[in-house]
Parts: sequence; C-alpha cells; structure tokens
Amino acid sequence: METQELINQIKKLKKEKNAIILAHYYADPIIQDQADYIGDSLGLAREAGNTSADIIVFCGVHFMAETAAIISPQKKVLIPAQRCGCSLAESITGKDIQNWKANNPDGIVVSYVNTTAEVKAETDYCCTSSNALKIINHLGKDKKIFFTPDKNLGAYIVKKTGIQMELWNGDCCVHEPITTEMVLDMSAKYPEADVLIHPESNCSGDDQILNLDNAYFYSTAGIMEHAKKSDKKQFIIATELGTLHQLTKENPSKEFILIHPKTICGSMKRVKLQGLYEALEKEQFEVIVPKEIAEKAIHSITKMLEIS
Ligand code: 13P
Ligand code: SF4
Repeated sequence: METQELINQIKKLKKEKNAIILAHYYADPIIQDQADYIGDSLGLAREAGNTSADIIVFCGVHFMAETAAIISPQKKVLIPAQRCGCSLAESITGKDIQNWKANNPDGIVVSYVNTTAEVKAETDYCCTSSNALKIINHLGKDKKIFFTPDKNLGAYIVKKTGIQMELWNGDCCVHEPITTEMVLDMSAKYPEADVLIHPESNCSGDDQILNLDNAYFYSTAGIMEHAKKSDKKQFIIATELGTLHQLTKENPSKEFILIHPKTICGSMKRVKLQGLYEALEKEQFEVIVPKEIAEKAIHSITKMLEIS
C-alpha cells in the first residue's frame, strides 16, 4: 500500500475499532503524525489511564506499553512492532530488587518507569524523568533509598536534592554517550544557545554541567515546554533525535541542533507505518502482563501518579 493509503486505512480502522494511538516523542516523525497523543513517559501513562478508547496502540518501547496495560487492564494494548527493548529496562530484574530488600528490610525502592512489569511489582515507588525530583523530595532524607536502574538520573537527583541514595548501575545506550566534554564543546560552538539535556545523559551528575548558566535538565516534555516559552532562537538538544520533529513543528522560527548525530533509539524507531496499520487491522501484538504481576505493579505506579 502507498503511504497515503496506509494513513487513510489507519484513520478508518482507528474509528471503527474505537482505538487511540499514543506515541512517544522518540517515535519516527510519520508515526508521531498519526498519533492522537504524543508525550513523554509520564504523559503517556496518564493518557493510557484516562482514555475511553477500547484499544490503545502504543508507539513506543515495550516497558511503556506494559505500563499502559497495567494502568488500563480492561483495555487491549497493542505494540505495532516486536523486540522494542530498552537497555535500561533490561539492566535489572525483579530478583535483583528482592535481593536488595532481603539485605535492607527497611529500605525503599524507587524505580524509574523504564523497567519491566516484574521490576515494578517489586518496587515501592515508580518515577519518570519529569517527577523524579518530586518523588525523592517527598520521601525525604531519613529513609534508605535504592534508586534503579538509571545511574545518571540517580546521580542528578542526588545532586539536586542532597538526598543520598544507593544507585543501580544501569544506563541508557542512547544517553550514556552524552558526556560533559560533548556538552562543553557544543556550548562553545553555539554560545547563544540553551542546552536542553535529558537527565539520563552521562553528564547529568557533573557539577561542571549542572552549574552552566545555559544548561537545563528536563524530561522530553520539559524540553518541549522550555523551547516554546524561551525567547532564545537556538537550542542544543541533548536527547533522542525524534524530539526534533515536534520541536521544529511547534517552533518554526527557532533552530534545534542535535548534540550528536547518533543519539537515536533503535527500539523506538522499530514502529513503522505498515506495522501500525497491521497492528490495528490484526489487533497485534497484544501486550499482556500476567494478572499477579500487574496487581502488584499497579501500586508503585499509582503512588507515583498520586504524588506527581
Ligand atoms: P521521558 O520520561 O522523557 O519520556 O524519557 C523516556 C525515555 O526512555 C528516555 O530515554
Ligand atoms: Fe530505553 Fe534509552 Fe531508548 Fe529511552 S532512549 S527507550 S531509555 S534505550
């Protein structure tokens, strides 16, 4: 089928089946253009909980679709491509958390939403990059906190809140290569630009970058908001390539420069137009979280949504 015909069929099937398409900002531009809602992890989780659609087609990675399935167990959640993994989510298992808890019976486990349902089921509080500071500040200094799985987001939270935490040693293969040197080099090259950095980046816990006047740390939705509100005309984007699509669409007179041409999440890019069409037509690939895991995992997600 030609591109336009695929787009027409997607629209038609969506209506017929009362389906909604959710897409992360890192999805391919053509996929974002078919979405009813584009968001960061927190926004997508909220939308999955609020929609009245019968089918949620989730154009993102597997852990995000799993989160939607946990929040909305009565809905059919589909992911239009297989093998949409995440290096962060794959760095830790439920057993790793159980082991930590066995040695720290009074400790609290906070896991980034980039984790499997099995890990969320062992977790006390979930968080995303947009509410992590809020959640850790809510827990305060008196408790022993184990923060998983992203060491860079963890280091950033420790610096910003002054609250010590034990950190799991996981990282995102897309953001880990964004180093202090890279940010400093690009800032020197574009002195008028603001640098908008996702806290999964390797430089996130580094004082040199935290103290830069023109550097700001945000989730992907936070980056969108800053770019919109700012009077600046030029921005260095230290996150995934897909964000440039909405940034340029929403701010046609501003310039966005990706910090490095290789900051691309291969898993997010697996969803293509043909796959999206087939997902709606064949109702594939359904994301099923076993009931006993979903019933445990929902608590850590609900606590997060209540605080944020
Ligand atoms: P956001 O919370 O900004 O959506 O981040 C999700 C993610 O996977 C970033 O790598
Ligand atoms: Fe996972 Fe990194 Fe891709 Fe986000 S960008 S989904 S953290 S691999």
